Amino acid sequence: MSNQTKGIRQRIDLRSRFAPQTQTLIAMTAARRIEQMQTRRKGMRLPRLTFIVGWLAICCAASDTAAQYPYRPDVGRPPFPPSQPIYRVAGDADALLDDQDLLSPRMRSTPPSDPNDLLGDDLLGGIRPGDDLLGGDDLLGGGDLLGGGANTAVGAEAEQDPLSNLGPTKPIKKQAVEDKKKDPHEELWTENCYPSAESCRKCHPAQYEEWRASGHAYSSVSPMFNRFDQAMTEYTRGTVGSFCNRCHSPVQTQLQIPRHVSVLDAPPVVREGVTCIACHRVNEQYWKTNGDRRIEPGNIHAPVYGGGDGQGLREAIAKSKELKLKLSPDDKGPGQPIHLESRFFQPLTTSDACVSCHQVAVHPGIWLEVVHAQYRSGPAAKRGVSCQQCHMGSVPGKDLGYDCGHIAEVAGKPYGEPRKRSNHSFWGPGYSIAHPGIFPHNPKASSYTPRQWLEFDYRAGWGTEAFEKNVPPGMTFPKPWDTTDDRRDGRKIIDDNLAKLDQKRSNAIMTMQAGVEIKGPFFDSAPMAGVPLQFSYRVENESDGHNLPTGSLGAQPQLWLNVALIDPTGKRVWESGYLDRNGDLADMHSREVALGNIPRDKNLFNLQTKFLINNVRGTDREVALPVNFSLDQLAFLRPGAVPTTVLNHPPLIRMEAHSIPPLDHRMAKYTVPAHLMTKPGAYRLSVRMRSRTEPMYFMRQINCTPDMIRRMQEYTLDVHPSSHTFWVR
Ligand code: HEC
Ligand code: HEC
Ligand code: HEC
Ligand code: HEC
Ligand code: HEC
Repeated sequence: MSNQTKGIRQRIDLRSRFAPQTQTLIAMTAARRIEQMQTRRKGMRLPRLTFIVGWLAICCAASDTAAQYPYRPDVGRPPFPPSQPIYRVAGDADALLDDQDLLSPRMRSTPPSDPNDLLGDDLLGGIRPGDDLLGGDDLLGGGDLLGGGANTAVGAEAEQDPLSNLGPTKPIKKQAVEDKKKDPHEELWTENCYPSAESCRKCHPAQYEEWRASGHAYSSVSPMFNRFDQAMTEYTRGTVGSFCNRCHSPVQTQLQIPRHVSVLDAPPVVREGVTCIACHRVNEQYWKTNGDRRIEPGNIHAPVYGGGDGQGLREAIAKSKELKLKLSPDDKGPGQPIHLESRFFQPLTTSDACVSCHQVAVHPGIWLEVVHAQYRSGPAAKRGVSCQQCHMGSVPGKDLGYDCGHIAEVAGKPYGEPRKRSNHSFWGPGYSIAHPGIFPHNPKASSYTPRQWLEFDYRAGWGTEAFEKNVPPGMTFPKPWDTTDDRRDGRKIIDDNLAKLDQKRSNAIMTMQAGVEIKGPFFDSAPMAGVPLQFSYRVENESDGHNLPTGSLGAQPQLWLNVALIDPTGKRVWESGYLDRNGDLADMHSREVALGNIPRDKNLFNLQTKFLINNVRGTDREVALPVNFSLDQLAFLRPGAVPTTVLNHPPLIRMEAHSIPPLDHRMAKYTVPAHLMTKPGAYRLSVRMRSRTEPMYFMRQINCTPDMIRRMQEYTLDVHPSSHTFWVR
């Protein structure tokens, strides 16, 4: 027995006092480690130093460990499907790193309105001047931990690295951009079983227009979703299966398109995610099913299920000749094919329609989505208010009634009597980080393929007057963007989509503002120079629907307060809720804090829900993902005692919620040290709540591209910005 093996055996003995369940786990772990070491020893002996270095690296950057050393399949378990090219935000990610790209002025097409001068120099800058988030090459600097850089470094050194057999899967080869010749029948067949939103748009343009930029429309093409799904598949060695697709890409699940087929090559209806038929062709009542639902297949003539009695439709069918409606595929000639029936489906009119996807339990204690449970025990449910009333009503996030209008158009004219109109924007705080040629869905965009769109460099200004007049001589473009006409056509669609995204963004802010109130500042005592300043804000969940935020972990949304103190000379002397150079909050997930480059944000007020994981020493710590890699010398994922297929997540993990229950509040307390406030005079406190779908450390962990990270930063929502001036004696 080698010394190492002996050491492990001893540790097994040491741990015999643990509960039997834990013991089994430890024994399995140890046995596995011995097995791994023995296999490895056949090849190469690991120098002791590597162990130590490896161990240190893991301790320092625990949350980044997995990105650098993701687990790889080995003998004894079935291999999972080969990881296919991952959805890329740009066809050529490297091109994004070139020259001034990151500094390009196009952050948003319109900056958010800014009544209180908050976005000036007050809050956006990092903690040091010039350290702003997108500044210079910080974010992409070679040595940092962001996807691109880390990948190349590891790739290049893999040969000499003795731990390389534990290393990441090989960097993904550049995807050939030429489109495969697809069988045209395939799409036709799909459409005949699962009509796309495009088919419904012909007669329901209003619903389509709202839906096309919604979270539901985004769920399948979301780069974050695809990247995250890929990472989960790798971590769990494929055992997570199509779990994620059930809710995010229900038509794909139904068509049994394998998970690893790129969403870019999937039929349009699959790219539409939670599309019209995912709600209007479901006729069985589901409760909590983690998204496992059945869509009724059939062509466009098959019945739809709605909240009305179908009288309007019966009248339309009766006048089909006059209205030029086609009632069967055999109907030749002009006109629109229509569904022959619309049936009342009661669950669609209640919160039951939402629960199967908006309540995700994967393990006792691990609820990836908890909104329905919170809602059910909250005041709104008691009042009889449904999810739809706040999320499909006329005012974002509030149950203030519905719009009224025509619900269909036939032959370009509003049809029938005005009725209750449910807004299909599905008001919510989310935002897209996809290429604007791919999302929002846009009928005009379909003359180009998603892969072609990824090649369209909208940030460089392709197709704009300014760009086209000054195309540098010799500049080449990928097909089909090699003519100025195509670039200009592309630009029109991009501009249309960017405007739509701006609209979604203002709705997102309105939704958040319907839920949050920030009161204050409240000073503990009269502010005085040379005395520590103690104050607080009262953050209220104004809404009685559910917690603020719901505490989704699929999304891991961050919702935090950013507060800055400006002194009489206009200098920012103190701040909380600041971001480090990687865009992370200065908490335990910040690499900059770990390295001692910036101070930890002691007063940070963050409502994000966290995962806590047990490490082998029996304590728990925060992690970005509930996969159990351990803080031990060797980086590997401890196999759970129960297969991940059953639990979807390994045992020994729990959640820690920080969200605010309905109608409740929490105080955010701050202390500014005395030495930062020595001058008397007029000071200003600026505050805003910030909201984003994902933390940056998590995006890095799952190897998001720099462009994804950049967009996540750019679109961060600012909620209720305000300033307060006060006198310091
Ligand atoms: C039972 C349904 C369900 C399953 C299964 C599910 N999700 Fe989600 N996911 C949701 C819902 C609902 C939201 C929106 C939550 C919110 O906004 O609070 C969401 C949000 C997200 C988001 C943030 C939005 C975005 O697109 O950027 C990501 C990323 C995500 N999920 C990834 C995953 C991954 C990866 C898996 C599999 C491990 C998964 N989800 C499994 C329902 C589900
Ligand atoms: C997440 C589920 C969901 C998706 C996706 C969805 N709908 Fe709906 N839809 C509903 C609900 C809920 C109602 C309201 C039912 C009621 O009357 O209470 C509704 C109502 C309707 C109505 C009746 C009129 C109205 O506006 O209230 C039409 C028409 C309609 N949807 C069409 C569409 C089309 C077209 C799409 C795709 C572009 C779509 N829906 C996508 C859930 C959905
Ligand atoms: C050719 C036109 C046409 C197409 C295409 C079409 N619809 Fe309709 N739809 C109608 C008309 C007309 C009505 C009845 C409007 C009324 O009652 O005022 C209707 C009603 C509905 C309703 C409301 C039922 C109710 O009474 O609450 C839903 C839901 C609906 N359609 C969904 C869809 C979906 C989903 C698609 C795509 C798969 C689709 N429709 C495609 C014309 C169309
Ligand atoms: C009384 C109004 C109200 C009701 C009822 C309500 N919501 Fe919300 N919802 C809001 C508001 C306001 C926000 C934005 C503030 C926030 O994030 O909590 C929101 C946010 C959300 C979000 C965004 C993610 C997050 O973490 O906050 C999701 C998803 C959501 N609601 C789903 C639902 C579902 C599903 C139901 C029914 C089970 C529901 N809501 C019931 C008002 C409501
Ligand atoms: C088929 C599964 C499914 C059903 C059914 C469903 N949702 Fe969702 N919903 C999702 C997923 C997945 C997301 C996250 C999409 C993303 O951003 O990637 C989501 C996101 C949302 C959001 C956040 C949007 C944003 O912009 O932040 C709201 C609000 C929401 N859903 C409300 C509802 C309501 C209300 C219902 C019931 C009428 C419902 N959903 C039914 C899957 C579903």
